[in-house]
Amino acid sequence: MERQSNWVASRVSKTSDSLDRAFAEGLTGHVITARDGKRVQLEDGGEAVEFVSCSYLGLESHPDLIAAATEAMGRFGLHFSTSRNRGRPPYLRELEELLSVMYGGAQAAAFTSVGTVHLGLLPLLGAGALPSYPVADAGAAFLVEKTAHASIQVIRGVLEQIGPTRRFDMTDPTALAAAVREVAATGRTPIVLVDGVGSMGGLIDVASMLAILEPFGGHLYVDDAHGVSIEGSLGAGYAFEALGGVLPENVVLAGSLSKAFGGAGGFAVVPSHEDMLVLRKFANPLVFGHSIMLPMLAANVAAARLHVDGQVAELQKRLWRNAAEFDRLTGETLVNAGLHSPVRGALFDTEDAAFAAARRLKQAGVLVLPAFYPTVARGTGLMRFAVSALHQQRDLEAAAGALGF
Ligand SMILES: Cc1ncc(COP(=O)(O)O)c(C=O)c1O
Repeated sequence: MERQSNWVASRVSKTSDSLDRAFAEGLTGHVITARDGKRVQLEDGGEAVEFVSCSYLGLESHPDLIAAATEAMGRFGLHFSTSRNRGRPPYLRELEELLSVMYGGAQAAAFTSVGTVHLGLLPLLGAGALPSYPVADAGAAFLVEKTAHASIQVIRGVLEQIGPTRRFDMTDPTALAAAVREVAATGRTPIVLVDGVGSMGGLIDVASMLAILEPFGGHLYVDDAHGVSIEGSLGAGYAFEALGGVLPENVVLAGSLSKAFGGAGGFAVVPSHEDMLVLRKFANPLVFGHSIMLPMLAANVAAARLHVDGQVAELQKRLWRNAAEFDRLTGETLVNAGLHSPVRGALFDTEDAAFAAARRLKQAGVLVLPAFYPTVARGTGLMRFAVSALHQQRDLEAAAGALGF
């Protein structure tokens, strides 16, 4: 019988064995047995500095978060196993209220992950069920940016059931405007899905994208998982600040609580209480899934307080100082050099060159995230560095030295 082709089968068959080789050589997949800031002990007895964790501000070891998680565990145990709609501790409301302060009074709904935000919210957005985001009688069409995160790409088939879903390439300067015009000509409302801070690439110009969409009554959905906490006086993040420090009409923000924020989970930012009511009633993972586990929920509240009281803004200064210093040490040659992104990349023309660099870094006690095709172009390799406010000068020097600078 002929096997029907599908994108999962195609991805599996096209993926090279590079990542397997990197695991086998101990260049990724590290088992960490102890940790002090960015210094880690490895199972093989070695010590290293890590550039792997996406906790860009180092908040996950802040005493306030640890105390909050410990107290919650003592009071409630680990988990209250039901949907948030059926029963919950006070932390959930506290978290959402503090997030609302961070986002200038807009409403925030907490989910267990960013992926569940996409899954819960996007079908409602496309169906015109969220009151602040009207959709034409003909329905909506989704335009997914090619490099938008895998957690969005994987639900394109779900979105296709709501409205036509196609991809566009933002490196082509005319592609988005053309796609939006084509959708509008069919009478549908265009909904554009993009990242804010790219997890591998650069900063996405969300304000220009919104300007293209606005005349057509379209909506912009930004996954700013990597941008949350690292910009803005209250840590609202890259996309919110790039859009003028307010939630513009027609924009939905999705954020992460698991990266720079210091805790765990995801959240959506929408304008009104009426949108929140729809999310609580119909967003599938909120209705039928469990809530963020209790110690992490309490830690999220503690982290949100550090945002609202200005402590995060101090940590941001250290992050950007470290990013600038790493750029200086590496001669401004890395991917994202000079940008307010915590992600840096060393690109290599061949996989062999990338493997050689990964070995040198490991030998120098520097842990990074090696990426190969299909994350980067076929035959090439990228060493991804996650810079943190906690890195010390010697850590940055060790990493730059191992890269040959
Ligand atoms: C841009 C982006 N969006 C979404 C996710 C998925 O996050 P979660 O694990 O909370 O679903 C990630 C994970 O790294 C990400 O980088």
